[in-house]
Amino acid sequence: MISNNPQHTEYDTWAWLYNQTMGPQYCQNQLQPLEKILLPRIKPNAKILDLCCGTGQLIQILINRGYQITGVDNSQEMLNYAHQNAPNGKFLLADARYFELPPSFDAAFSTSAALNHIMTIPELQQVFQRVYSALKDNGWFLFDINHHQQMQRWWKGKIAEGEIEQQYAWMVTPNYNPDERKGYFQVTMFQQQTKSSSASILRTIWYLLSPILNHRLLYRLRIKLLTKFQAKEKNWQRMDEKYFVRGHIPEEIRTVLQQTGFTDIHILTLEGTPTIDDKHSAYFLCRKPIKI
Ligand SMILES: C[S@@+](CC[C@H](N)C(=O)[O-])C[C@H]1O[C@@H](n2cnc3c(N)ncnc32)[C@H](O)[C@@H]1O
Repeated sequence: MISNNPQHTEYDTWAWLYNQTMGPQYCQNQLQPLEKILLPRIKPNAKILDLCCGTGQLIQILINRGYQITGVDNSQEMLNYAHQNAPNGKFLLADARYFELPPSFDAAFSTSAALNHIMTIPELQQVFQRVYSALKDNGWFLFDINHHQQMQRWWKGKIAEGEIEQQYAWMVTPNYNPDERKGYFQVTMFQQQTKSSSASILRTIWYLLSPILNHRLLYRLRIKLLTKFQAKEKNWQRMDEKYFVRGHIPEEIRTVLQQTGFTDIHILTLEGTPTIDDKHSAYFLCRKPIKI
């Protein structure tokens, strides 16, 4: 295995928090497209590559079901958690644009719009080439992205999600410039400094409402509390980090997949809608053809 030994990445900063918030949450969300689209196409004990695997919770679920999984990620901290969460997984610290693995995988996937972090079309083609080389003939590749139209509609520079817990709090604020088709989401992380730190009124309201705050009818209240907390909390240690992304256009990605050599390219929504619009993420499924 060859890796280009990446240095510190922004995800190193987020890893401790991602591991206890989005990691467990997203793996449940991302299991659905895998079960619906990818897993029915491959054999029960298939060898699968998880590209940009993050903290590895999804890998453990798939290992429990009999699959052999290798995770690739360029954040050492994310991979440290992945090792703990999936002790029987194999892992490679490498950049998605440069990793090299022999053509031994029955399938590959990349979840939670990780490939939005690939900022140019030539670099995206590099990633697809790396995946193509790692797949066996007839191997499937599934990934999802947040596309341009969706980001233009929803990434408005306002807090979109977050939580306030006993020892920490976090907020994600997505920003997008549709003319440049570039953006970033800012993650604001708060950590309690000392155990004796007094509870603010906002935190108390959050704790009291927390059993019902996830209900979609209370979304606005939830965001209001997070916004106020972000503006007013002065006692907890605050850290802001930006994660840069590109707003890809689905048809552009289709062309790049074709140029790489993939066939059977499908652009899907999870809900099965016929068009990709601003309410749905785009899932791409494609196949490495059998050499004749
Ligand atoms: C949004 S997280 C998704 C993690 C995981 N797939 C999930 O569903 O929870 C994006 C992941 O992509 C990784 N990543 C971003 N850019 C990368 C690159 N160029 N090469 C390898 N990994 C990358 C990050 O370190 C992070 O773990």
